Amino acid sequence: MAAATTSVYPDASEVRDGRLVIGGCDAVELAREFGTPAYVMAEDDLRARARELGGALAAAHGPRGDVVYASKALPCTAVLAIFAEEGLAVDVASAGELHLALRAGHVPERIYVHGNAKSVAELEAVAALGVATLVVDNFDEIDRLADILEPSARQRAMVRVTPGVEADTHAAVVTGHAGSKFGFALHEAPEAIARLRALAGVELRGLHMHIGSQLFDLDAYRAAIAALASLGDFDAYDLGGGLGVAYTTAQRAPAAAAWVQAVVGAAHELLGARHAHLALEPGRALVACAGVTLYGVESVKRDIVAVDGGMSDNLRPMLYGAPYEAEVADRFTGDSEPGTPFRLVGKHCESGDVLATGVALRDPRPGDVVVTPVTGAYGHALANNYNGVPRPPVILCAGGGARVVVRRETVEDLHARDV
Ligand code: LLP
Repeated sequence: MAAATTSVYPDASEVRDGRLVIGGCDAVELAREFGTPAYVMAEDDLRARARELGGALAAAHGPRGDVVYASKALPCTAVLAIFAEEGLAVDVASAGELHLALRAGHVPERIYVHGNAKSVAELEAVAALGVATLVVDNFDEIDRLADILEPSARQRAMVRVTPGVEADTHAAVVTGHAGSKFGFALHEAPEAIARLRALAGVELRGLHMHIGSQLFDLDAYRAAIAALASLGDFDAYDLGGGLGVAYTTAQRAPAAAAWVQAVVGAAHELLGARHAHLALEPGRALVACAGVTLYGVESVKRDIVAVDGGMSDNLRPMLYGAPYEAEVADRFTGDSEPGTPFRLVGKHCESGDVLATGVALRDPRPGDVVVTPVTGAYGHALANNYNGVPRPPVILCAGGGARVVVRRETVEDLHARDV
């Protein structure tokens, strides 16, 4: 398996005299100008990942394919707009994500709509677009479609199949195993396919699967695709997302091209899908490594460095035990000088509010800016207001310029919905 990278910082970043520079912007100056905590993204990395995945799919399969951005990873209008510009399609999992995708300029023809509990209102919104692809999850959804769709409609649909494959990742983010809450079990899929084919107003395009997230093991895709092969031949397959990324320098994620080749190769070989339309739905792999979080240090006690954010801006260590690295943004540790290991903790009223452990920081003190890399995916997305902490801004940097694309919440925002 090819190693994608050895650095966990964006490609469009560098460490100059021990100071982190992202998209040409000095991290400490960004913190001074925009405050902390802040999500900072290198725009060039977002575009480069989109082109890399798009190019890999075109090389492996030709033009009948879509790289579909799983917008749940970073549901930010400006980022959605960048991916629309770069030619990606988009996956939405609620009326809210659909709203953002349309607002960002994604065309309905290239929107894939997911969800294991779609409401009637959500199904009606999709039907009103006429041309989006609905990824159907369950029999109740088919019943609802029968009520909603005009017989003259041509609602594009795919059947989400749970292939019954255990992928090797955190239990909270496996989705393709028997017993998953998502999709039709393999033995149910033939009936779902038959009912959708018989339903006036539906145009069944093919099958969908998504076996899990943060996957390093490409063999699981092959096993899952083999399971789909028992369901017949279709004109389109959406084989999901899940490509893992390295959160620490010790991890080795598959290269994007290796992932695309493995999945597409298995689809060609096992599904005979050489001429079918193929979609892949990466989320994390498009955005995670483009982003870092800047924090301000508030206190240093023994080996504990406490910052001005925490589980309100990055829930992943608490939800999945996810590891992160950290550095003082203007005193990076060199390879030869590892520094003293610290525990990086947040400001929240829970002992579990720990962002990273065993991180080598060089002489951290209050007022410093500390940076955690690889926070572009599922950070902003899972952010919350625990302890009345306003959510951070999202800042895009490129060519030495920085623009705020999501502003910082204010304390007034905290009571904006009071009635
Ligand atoms: N397609 C479907 C149908 C999905 O449910 C997901 C993610 C994706 C694509 C994109 O997966 P990705 O390429 O990002 O792995 N909050 C968790 C991740 C949950 C993923 C949910 N579904 C985390 O922070 O690790």
